[in-house]
Amino acid sequence: NAPRLIDPFARAITYLRVSVTDRCDFRCVYCMAEHMTFLPKKELLTLEELDRMCSTFIGLGVEKLRITGGEPLVRRGIMTFFDAMSRHLDSGALKELTVTTNGSQLDRFASDLYAAGVRRINVSLDTLDAAKFQRVTRWGRLEQVLSGIDAARNAGLRVKINTVALKGFNEDELFALTEWCAREDMDLTFIEVMPMGDLGNEDRVGQYWSLDDLRADLATRYTLTDLAERTGGPARYVRLNETGQKIGFITPLTHNFCESCNRVRMTCTGDLFMCLGQEDNASLRDIMRAHPEDDAPLIRAIEAAIARKPEGHDFDYSRQKPDGQVSRHMSHTGG
Ligand code: GTP
Ligand code: 5AD
Ligand code: SF4
Repeated sequence: NAPRLIDPFARAITYLRVSVTDRCDFRCVYCMAEHMTFLPKKELLTLEELDRMCSTFIGLGVEKLRITGGEPLVRRGIMTFFDAMSRHLDSGALKELTVTTNGSQLDRFASDLYAAGVRRINVSLDTLDAAKFQRVTRWGRLEQVLSGIDAARNAGLRVKINTVALKGFNEDELFALTEWCAREDMDLTFIEVMPMGDLGNEDRVGQYWSLDDLRADLATRYTLTDLAERTGGPARYVRLNETGQKIGFITPLTHNFCESCNRVRMTCTGDLFMCLGQEDNASLRDIMRAHPEDDAPLIRAIEAAIARKPEGHDFDYSRQKPDGQVSRHMSHTGG
């Protein structure tokens, strides 16, 4: 199953991120406005259409599928889709099926995910303080997420924690989060906040905490060794000598990683975005619907889209546009 999707910069596209819903049971302040208008359900790809779309990409050499949202586990019937994707793991065409979740539904779904062949998941968690958790997610309960993480680990899933670095919010928890992950043997990745989507009254420039600064803070307590490994993702890794744990940094603003990009992302309505930080996209849903028995037009549309994947994003805080340079929210394209 050699990669058939090669972009103009000779990057092989082997990784598809799929947002299965734009809805979420939280309203994280850097991600969504408090009052969001969500898509009418009929706009969404059905579970059968998601299957057909993903299977087509897998036929074109995609080896890694990450299911995102919104919160993917609030999509009704989503386990049917995970179960269906496991046939591609069994055949060997798909190397990894995984999910990025806010953790709120893991109590219910952790063992089903494991049964479908998922082995590692990413859970977003920005604070270990219950009151602050409620503030940042607006509607979330920390306890529910911690219990979901336990359920995931008991089910045999390896958990990576994603923490968005937020100035004035979790700066004071850098060591607490690090020590918690070391104790629990979970990988931890910090993410720079990206200017995507209108937030209402929230100020994203004020939220921005550069990971160069965060890294310098970490170095006041730990000895950091840079790791050469790049797992095909945007993160760069260091090891903390004192604890042995691995910490990742996703730094689109301070050090972009576009040259090694291997991914494209599909929205829940079947729009293919070739870059998280660009607006250009290809609408695949209607082409697929127009040809229920024939995948060739869909394949041609995918190939044409990959042929215009841009070299990189151009996020930039120096322009100080707090309401986002990319008008769509992260939840639309799934991060
Ligand atoms: P892998 O899929 O194993 O690489 O993990 P990941 O850390 O990329 O996945 P996850 O869903 O946990 O992504 C964390 C965040 O990284 C995403 O929500 C985005 O904010 C950011 N991210 C992931 N891929 C890209 C990318 O290609 N460009 C940019 N700018 N940010 C990305
Ligand atoms: N910038 C950076 N990360 C974001 N996330 C959501 N919105 C943003 C943003 N504007 C993160 C979530 C989650 C991942 C899917 O994306 O916290 O970890
Ligand atoms: Fe939901 Fe994730 Fe956005 Fe928070 S960051 S509102 S959990 S989609």
